[in-house]
Amino acid sequence: MTPNAKVSRVALIGSGFVGASYAFAMLNQGIASELVIIDLNQKKAEGDAIDLNHGIPFASNMRIWAGDYSDCKDADIVVITAGANQAPGETRMDLISKNAAIFKKIVDSVMQSGFDGIFIVATNPVDVLTYATWKYSGLPASRVIGSGTLLDSARLRFELGSRLQVDPRSIHAYIMGEHGDTELPVWSHVNIASMPLNDYIERHNGPSKEELQDIFVSVRDAAYHIIERKGATYYGIAMGLARLTRAVLRNENSIVSVSVLLEGEYGLDDLYIGVPAVINRDGVKDIIELDLSPEEQQQLEHSASVLKAAIAKIFP
Ligand code: LAC
Repeated sequence: MTPNAKVSRVALIGSGFVGASYAFAMLNQGIASELVIIDLNQKKAEGDAIDLNHGIPFASNMRIWAGDYSDCKDADIVVITAGANQAPGETRMDLISKNAAIFKKIVDSVMQSGFDGIFIVATNPVDVLTYATWKYSGLPASRVIGSGTLLDSARLRFELGSRLQVDPRSIHAYIMGEHGDTELPVWSHVNIASMPLNDYIERHNGPSKEELQDIFVSVRDAAYHIIERKGATYYGIAMGLARLTRAVLRNENSIVSVSVLLEGEYGLDDLYIGVPAVINRDGVKDIIELDLSPEEQQQLEHSASVLKAAIAKIFP
């Protein structure tokens, strides 16, 4: 290693389905130099660390260990996945009281270590808990990011790709709003090979408006369908968190739809909500303000009102 090489450390809080899958993705993609796993269940954290270390010869030479909150001091990023996840039929908002109760303790424990990096929050309801993390930590909002509609946008790109027979990675499409039941598809800005969706549909006999609505509903409700089949979702969100971690650690200036604090953008204020943002080593570098259609703007404002009512339950 060169004398001044920067060792990149990520501290993972929560080694459940999502956390362990995230750790597995981080190792396989070689995204950080160090990964410390922190969980109330120390034995689980230790077991995951030992198990993952045995994969290093097949992947990347990442230092992985089960640690404690003191290990957050020198972390560049703290990723929070700890908390209860949805039971079949439960909404993400139904988790608010359970998970908000543990977040104050988690964030306080991280900050007491002297942590001065970037938070990435995944625990649901993620927009509300990211707002809580910002408030509890006292860090600048740019350094507190929620996974937001990152996974929802990936789901939309996958479904559109399947229907249009195009690689999902060649489709630009955003879901905005709550990571949840009030999210909205930004059809007016979907493009394939820089061609607006409607033009592409015309030229390639693509889906009707009704089919597009069906595609959106399958995206919005994806988690419910996965949970009723296997009890939880974790691979998609874990890979989205790894993608977001990479954008920070490699200073990529990537544009992804994540939960960020709005202070007037889209006419909204004092809430975290999913919008396209530029992410780099400093966290949120810029918020992208799309010219939404009147219907999209109205849907975003509705989503924001639902989130603000939920935030008011924690911060009356
Ligand atoms: C999902 C979880 C991460 O949408 O909320 O799969």
